[in-house]
Amino acid sequence: MIAPGLVVPRARGEEVRQVLIDAGFLRPDLEIQEEGETLVLPLAASPSEVPGTWGEVVERDFRESPRKGPSRYRDLLAWDAARKDALPRSFDVVGDVVLIRLPPELLDRRAEVGEALLRFVPGARLVGLDHGVRGPERRRTVERIAGAGPWRTRHRENGLELEVDVERAYFSPRLAREHARFADDVRPGDRVYDLCCGVGPFAVTVARGGRAASITAVDANPEAVELLRTTLGRLSLASRVTPVVARLEEFVPTAPPVERVVMNLPHEGIKYLASVARTVAPGGRLYYYEVVSRTEFARRGTTIVNLLGEVGTFRVADERVVHPYSPASDLVAFVVERSR
Ligand SMILES: C[S@@+](CC[C@H](N)C(=O)[O-])C[C@H]1O[C@@H](n2cnc3c(N)ncnc32)[C@H](O)[C@@H]1O
Repeated sequence: MIAPGLVVPRARGEEVRQVLIDAGFLRPDLEIQEEGETLVLPLAASPSEVPGTWGEVVERDFRESPRKGPSRYRDLLAWDAARKDALPRSFDVVGDVVLIRLPPELLDRRAEVGEALLRFVPGARLVGLDHGVRGPERRRTVERIAGAGPWRTRHRENGLELEVDVERAYFSPRLAREHARFADDVRPGDRVYDLCCGVGPFAVTVARGGRAASITAVDANPEAVELLRTTLGRLSLASRVTPVVARLEEFVPTAPPVERVVMNLPHEGIKYLASVARTVAPGGRLYYYEVVSRTEFARRGTTIVNLLGEVGTFRVADERVVHPYSPASDLVAFVVERSR
């Protein structure tokens, strides 16, 4: 079957496959194609949805996957084609909880969608309608549409099991690659701040790496920090991370500078950027996430560096699209380095 595919070096195949699954972009009904030293991963997304930084998008004649049973959850619904076309292609899987957003015209059919997802996703226990995150603590409003049990679950990423409660604390399964990237960038002896840590995926991944001299993870949501504490205890990593319940406004002014600071607060982080940059030691790096409109992306790194001019001299060491956020914007990662 002719379909778009993403060309990646074989060595990065598994990593990119995971990113595509997290973004809901991998077509499960088609087989990955091997071409010498590269792999071509079949895409469920249209080429324009795939950030250019992920690799070249090509067309290939893919073999259909021999997987038994339906390859899409929509195939489990006895609906007419027009109604099926209104179904979202992607959904999130957090541990054994499945989350989906539905357009208004499908809300009265939510129970059927929930049952289809419960049958479709291996190991699924509970399906929630995702009404989005709100408030400064970015708590998600979820409504049970199929299955049973609590919203609390354990989510596996990068070989770690994180304690998550999809209703009480923010967590996104689409950031696994970012958590690993940040941890990979921590050098032996670095001191680390995970600001706005949520349930602590950055901090836990760094702790597992074992190179950091200290890790302090800060969040205003006490329930998020409690989930982090539980994960650290279960993984015997409690001695490596200091969890702190505090608002940035309280923590940052007296925080001594460290070599690595990550802040994932994409909508409001800009308010805190200058004060947070003061916690970056000379030669250290700040990893900052922001939702940026596509038309602004090319200029945004320079704007950020200029804004930090009041704090010190910074340069953009890396900037890249993490995943699409809306039809006109992306979640973007900026890595800015402070000069020595
Ligand atoms: C988008 S979530 C990021 C969570 C985590 N870093 C991750 O990647 O999964 C933002 C987090 O910032 C926290 N937060 C929001 N405003 C804050 C503030 N002023 N001070 C401290 N934490 C804050 C929220 O409670 C929430 O857990």
